[in-house]
Amino acid sequence: MSFADKIKKFGHSEFVPDGWYWLISSKELKLGQARPAKFLNYDLVVYRGEDNEVRALDAYCPHMGAHLCDGKVEGNSIRCPFHFWKFNADGVCEDIPVLKEPVKVEQLKKYKCGEKYGLIWIWYGDNESTVEIPVVPELEGFTLDCTLGKPFVKECHPNVMMINAIDAHHFRSVHNLVADLEMEPKILSDSCIQFSNTTPMPQKNWFLRWATQFYAKALTYELTYWWGHTGSVMVGPDFLHFYIIFALRPNSEGKSEGQTILVTKQRSGVTGALFNKIVLYLTKLVGNYFATGDTLIFSRIKFKFKTPIKADRAILHFVDHYEKLSQNGFAVKEKEFKSCYPNDQMTL
Ligand code: FES
Ligand SMILES: [Fe+2]
Repeated sequence: MSFADKIKKFGHSEFVPDGWYWLISSKELKLGQARPAKFLNYDLVVYRGEDNEVRALDAYCPHMGAHLCDGKVEGNSIRCPFHFWKFNADGVCEDIPVLKEPVKVEQLKKYKCGEKYGLIWIWYGDNESTVEIPVVPELEGFTLDCTLGKPFVKECHPNVMMINAIDAHHFRSVHNLVADLEMEPKILSDSCIQFSNTTPMPQKNWFLRWATQFYAKALTYELTYWWGHTGSVMVGPDFLHFYIIFALRPNSEGKSEGQTILVTKQRSGVTGALFNKIVLYLTKLVGNYFATGDTLIFSRIKFKFKTPIKADRAILHFVDHYEKLSQNGFAVKEKEFKSCYPNDQMTL
């Protein structure tokens, strides 16, 4: 049995861990608006109620299957565009205009939503979970300024993309990096693993020797991964760290749909705001480099990790961590069936 045969979850699109997944940008959904959205095979309606909160429900009306995104948001509920049945934020039908009393109707599945970094996220898994949308550990507790990069699609599974940033082996071959990085893993929680470089700034030219004074210890390069699909990169000298979050989600074809988020601590005053604009712009350039790198390789890869070597140590830790993630609350197949065939009960 090869090493690859022992891997049951990592890089396998039939396994989808519980976690927060980005859905659409916040500015695409104004007060009182509804939009269609898709996560894996699930068609959803996302809408913003009068209280400014975002809700996500299964998209198809249990009456005849109209897509609710074409309906009307009323208060914190949504009314179907076809025969005007109305569903509340829990997906419960609360009004059928032609009936005095609404009959019992299949409840639409409700997805827990959150908003952060200018994005709307859904929690995939147990709706009672209290897990928060990820924050770079060094930025915990700070008010943040952030901006979004362009959404992108890569032809491979999110896990495979996430490998890239800890694959020190390929930095030399593909990116001609002069530094030898050693990524030390640290488990932060059941669903979060961090990798920090431990090697100092290389001394290969006068610029790098000069820059060494700004790095008290190692050359800062730290990755924090949540659920194997959303990760942050921290780079930069000790006096100014740059942070990029890569939010990835798998689609039903096993590809990665990604969104880059550039983040920094909020700074006060006009000078602070201007400074942050520059910092976020520079971060975006770095983010674009990461997001566009290795595109050709990812477009053709058939990921099978058959022959790990010593240089792949960090990746092995990542795989091991991912293999221990628990299975999500619902089976994809079962959900897919429900979503395609809305309620067929004959109660009337
Ligand atoms: S299809 Fe929605 S009310 Fe008829
Ligand atoms: Fe790369």
